[in-house]
Amino acid sequence: MNAIELLKADHKTVDKLFQKVKATEEGEHKELFEKIKQELDAHTHIEEKIFYPRLKEEEKLEDITLEGIEEHHQAKMFLRELANLTEDSEKFEPKLKVLMEDITHHVQEEEGKMFPDVEKVIDSAELEELGKRMEEEKKNFQKSQAAGAGK
Ligand SMILES: [Fe+2]
Ligand SMILES: [Fe+2]
Repeated sequence: MNAIELLKADHKTVDKLFQKVKATEEGEHKELFEKIKQELDAHTHIEEKIFYPRLKEEEKLEDITLEGIEEHHQAKMFLRELANLTEDSEKFEPKLKVLMEDITHHVQEEEGKMFPDVEKVIDSAELEELGKRMEEEKKNFQKSQAAGAGK
């Protein structure tokens, strides 16, 4: 998978989890949130470690990438706050809703603006190579997360 296909597949996985949240009772949301957090932790990690740094080298992509980094920063703050809330906190549902709205907006910006611009300046061979590196990095990240959780 090339870099863009890989990231879009992640976006789809996350969106499916969002749809599940919308279709289920509040009692099931904490567990769904755990999955959402795992997915987003890994996804933002590979974007920030491999994809965004490459984009920032391109003048045309610098602004949208810097904006993306700030949006990740906000999302991480929400993820951390949500992880620390108990399910019965009145803040859990509204915070989860705002997180989902923010992520949906961020994904729309990546898929609607960033990725098409990336395809104009980075050739397909390099996108393929970036995809491979991100896939590898994602596996390692998930392994280290799983090991950390087991401690
Ligand atoms: Fe993304
Ligand atoms: Fe992103």
